Amino acid sequence: MRSVRKVFEPLAIGAPRPFRELPSKLERMIHFVPPHIEKVRAKAGELAGQVDVVLGNLEDAIPIESKIAARDGFIAMAKATDFGSTGLWARVNALNSPWFLDDMTRIVGEVGDKLDVVMIPKVEGDWDIHFVDQYLALLEARHGVKKPILVHAILETPQGVNNVEAIAAASPRMHGMSLGPADLAASRAMKTTRVGGGHPDYKVLADAVAGAPRASFQQDPWHYTIARMVDACAAHGIKAFYGPFGDFSDPDACEAQFRNAFLLGCAGAWTLHPNQIAIAKRVFSPDAGEVAFARKILDAMPDGSGAVMIDGKMQDDATWKQARVIVELARQVAA
Ligand code: GLV
Ligand code: MG
Repeated sequence: MRSVRKVFEPLAIGAPRPFRELPSKLERMIHFVPPHIEKVRAKAGELAGQVDVVLGNLEDAIPIESKIAARDGFIAMAKATDFGSTGLWARVNALNSPWFLDDMTRIVGEVGDKLDVVMIPKVEGDWDIHFVDQYLALLEARHGVKKPILVHAILETPQGVNNVEAIAAASPRMHGMSLGPADLAASRAMKTTRVGGGHPDYKVLADAVAGAPRASFQQDPWHYTIARMVDACAAHGIKAFYGPFGDFSDPDACEAQFRNAFLLGCAGAWTLHPNQIAIAKRVFSPDAGEVAFARKILDAMPDGSGAVMIDGKMQDDATWKQARVIVELARQVAA
């Protein structure tokens, strides 16, 4: 378990003020590939350097009759491909599925040294993470895996959302968490047939104005869960991600959903289609205008204290910390 700091230490005068440091690796998009398809495996090397993370998907969207081929394909792809600085992740099948045990055993046993993160679907509580943590420890010891494999949970059941803080705190292996809107919609009995995004009927009506047509505003059905997830992750120093956006024909809506997540504190999103890669890269890299304004704040407040006015807007210690987050992200993108 992560230790929880119980006392507040007084800040020494002149000491740098704490702010939320971003975990250092850039992971703006987790790009999903179906590893049972030979053509996909053959072209996997082309993704190196083009995406921040390549993920071999073994779970949903892989037909039952291709589950073993996807596992074998992932292992073959990991052995054959040099992904360079691009991270390599696998989404294994759920803990209570017939495939989980062999997914973990074979992947860690055969390509454990190449795997950065294992994504676990349908996590319901910290007990799921404790089990995965211990099982990874057994496999790593048995196969002499040198670098600990990290764990990423998908938040996609009401039980998981209920236990989100405990999941975030469950293990030092926790890398982060992704919202899984499709399974969450199903398990909550939401009346939708979509993979993420909004719905035209989820809206509020503006007040009626005599003689004018009634305006309405669509709401984001994922706002509550993303906000809970971001707080739980930030409190435990791990990363939050928006998950999939299934309407490949609507890049504008995809961009808007990704941007809401970015503004609320998410580090990245899943990309299921090659067209979504550029969207995620654009959205999860800070806007040049924002970076320039954040730099103005840092320049105007060299020790991060006090209050100044810039372009008519008040800045103080808190906006200085916000500016540090944006400038640090810009530095990572430029590196
Ligand atoms: C992802 O796995 C989802 O269910 O949305
Ligand atoms: Mg799912």
